[in-house]
Amino acid sequence: LSELRPWLRGGAEKGGRVRCSRRVWVLLGSLTLIFLTSLFFSVSLRGGVGFNYLEPPGWEESRRVKLVPSYAGAHRLSPPDSQQQKTCACPRCVGDPGVSDWFDENYDPDISPVWTRDNVQLPSDVYYWWVMLQPQFKPHSIQQVLLRLFQVIPGRSPYGSWDPGRCLRCAVVGNSGNLRGAGYGATIDGHNYIMRINLAPTVGYEEDAGSHTTHHFMYPESAKNLATNVSFVLVPFKTLDLVWITSALSTGQIRFTYAPVKQFLRVDKDKVQVFNPAFFKYIHDHWTRHHGRYPSTGMLVLFFALHVCDEVNVFGFGADSRGNWHHYWEQNRYSGEFRKTGVHDADYEAQIIQRLAKAGKITVFPGK
Ligand code: C5P
Repeated sequence: LSELRPWLRGGAEKGGRVRCSRRVWVLLGSLTLIFLTSLFFSVSLRGGVGFNYLEPPGWEESRRVKLVPSYAGAHRLSPPDSQQQKTCACPRCVGDPGVSDWFDENYDPDISPVWTRDNVQLPSDVYYWWVMLQPQFKPHSIQQVLLRLFQVIPGRSPYGSWDPGRCLRCAVVGNSGNLRGAGYGATIDGHNYIMRINLAPTVGYEEDAGSHTTHHFMYPESAKNLATNVSFVLVPFKTLDLVWITSALSTGQIRFTYAPVKQFLRVDKDKVQVFNPAFFKYIHDHWTRHHGRYPSTGMLVLFFALHVCDEVNVFGFGADSRGNWHHYWEQNRYSGEFRKTGVHDADYEAQIIQRLAKAGKITVFPGK
């Protein structure tokens, strides 16, 4: 302003410059106003409903879970003593922020647990981590393999955003021997989603393990045929696993990975889902925190449930007295194998389960 003052005091010849400087000020003011308005809209749209018009097409589809109130945002926006907004209709909701700082800091509702047409491309850090889990001699192009797979299965996420009017109750059922004689069958069967892992037989174990299943998580070497109303969630550890599932649902050319695998798999093709490697790495980074080479399938399923359900109840998790992973239906010859190889850290995983229970995010049914 001090530099403008001589102009304002000046004569007619300076009048043009004064008008010019006024125009500059008006222009600057308008630009500032436009900038502040767009900033306001951008922030409120991101924080309010998670929609960002700068993202590429298909973004809303691929990250539908983001439609829930963002944890960080919700945390910042709510005054400390106000009533927290509930994300579901259950007595306690997994998604409710402000219950545990540890949980809120690590929980990322933006990562889809399912690998779909909308998130085919893996971030490069995820890609390099994932391809080294079970390295292959003959690498395939992941994208080509996935696109071929998505001609056979839907390749879409069936999970919606959180709904304050919904109470989706999920049972995550591990394979621990602690289920034997526990009598949890009816309780497990009373859930909306019942998630089982690998072999997990129910026939003959109904009293203890229940009889219903909605989701069955398996990898090629552990896969079995499923009833038509069950969703098969493939947990892939290598690109060959994607080639295998495509083949097992169509031509049957793959019979061997590092072990014999089923040539054909009888499952409902329309219900097949693929576990997202980015979500796999997120669990390794945020939750198991690099303890063990990678998280156990049970951990993967538990966090899958924590990202699609409103209430999570946990059954059949827990080692035997020697710290090995025994099974409820057999004398598991390989129960201590993971300890020798260091592939999973059972003790650390048990601590996380305890911590989640303490934070009120899950309820653990301890078994016998
Ligand atoms: O043995 P399996 O890998 O089929 O078991 C599925 C999951 O159940 C494991 O990945 C582990 O997380 C959990 N489990 C457990 N305690 C056991 C057996 C299995 O926590 N005794």
